[in-house]
Amino acid sequence: MRAVRYHEHGDPDVFQVDEVPRPSPAPDEVLVEMRAASVNPVDLLVRSGLYGDVSLPSVPGGDGAGVVAAAGEKVEALTEGDRVVVSGMDRSAGGTFAEYAAVPGTKVAALPESVPFEVAGAVGNVGATAWTALAEVAGIQPGDRVLVHGGAGGVGHAAVQVAASAGADVVATAGSEAARARVEELGASVALDYDSDSLAAEVLEATGGAGVETVLDHRLEEYLELDLEVLAEGGQVVSLMGNVPEASALPFYAKEVTLQALRMDNHPVRTPMLERVLRLVERGDLTPVVADTYDFAEVEQAHRDLSEGGYVGKLVVAP
Ligand SMILES: NC(=O)c1ccc[n+]([C@@H]2O[C@H](COP(=O)([O-])OP(=O)(O)OC[C@H]3O[C@@H](n4cnc5c(N)ncnc54)[C@H](OP(=O)(O)O)[C@@H]3O)[C@@H](O)[C@H]2O)c1
Repeated sequence: MRAVRYHEHGDPDVFQVDEVPRPSPAPDEVLVEMRAASVNPVDLLVRSGLYGDVSLPSVPGGDGAGVVAAAGEKVEALTEGDRVVVSGMDRSAGGTFAEYAAVPGTKVAALPESVPFEVAGAVGNVGATAWTALAEVAGIQPGDRVLVHGGAGGVGHAAVQVAASAGADVVATAGSEAARARVEELGASVALDYDSDSLAAEVLEATGGAGVETVLDHRLEEYLELDLEVLAEGGQVVSLMGNVPEASALPFYAKEVTLQALRMDNHPVRTPMLERVLRLVERGDLTPVVADTYDFAEVEQAHRDLSEGGYVGKLVVAP
């Protein structure tokens, strides 16, 4: 089979397409014929050698969608021919940028016929992250106000929709007028410019001065101070990334704020959360946005485009 691989860590030009043996699924795995997969920011770190141990040569790709080609004897829920979504591939094992991938049964969920592979291939990791951050960790409730930094990003655009579909009032940020318009279409009641000098005041204004119950943050060093300013009493920050900056402890105590980190590597069992996410997709409450698609020979460009940013949603790779 064909697989994208890199034989050494480095810049995006390390990728090549190799002919390699098709993997055999272990008893608790399914062999998935991959139809689509997505690029995630952590892939850039792993490729560069800055995140975790991988044995080289390595196949990139942490999520995707495809068809079960064979099921290990311990996987009872799935059988050959089933459509599936994949999330949370172990980076030290083989990834999803290959014609076939052996995937633990705990990291797949059945994909409804109505959801195209390309769309499903975009949502595995970001859908699971947005769901876990907002539904599981933050426990958002109908009527809550939620601030999503970077609402046009992979996680951000899923988070805006997960929060809106839960009945929350979503304030988001994005970098361009076009992205802000799209984020509002996806369910934010207002999308603000993340570069604005008066962002905190604008968030407060958007919430009638009340502030937000939850902030989803992926740039903690940049935004913790703002988060503390715009949080309502008892509010919480769910942080996906970033160092904890020096910040005055005063607002923490004054508002009894919680700062909660989330690391999806600590949530390896993905099936239940994927099932929830796919339910939202199926009923139109979550539309995974595919900004661009690439074939295996174009993964270098996909990594460059992810670094560059400036789009809404996800970059998808298909064989
Ligand atoms: N902890 C975990 O388990 C976990 C899980 C998933 C993701 N993450 C991390 O969360 C972050 C987001 O992931 P992702 O998949 O959504 O990445 P992504 O698709 O690259 O999205 C990042 C978004 O951030 C926006 N952004 C850029 N500069 C910004 C700024 N100054 N203020 C606010 N937003 C800004 C980007 O906008 P532009 O396109 O305009 O630049 C883009 O929309 C990454 O760092 C990722 O590694 C962590």
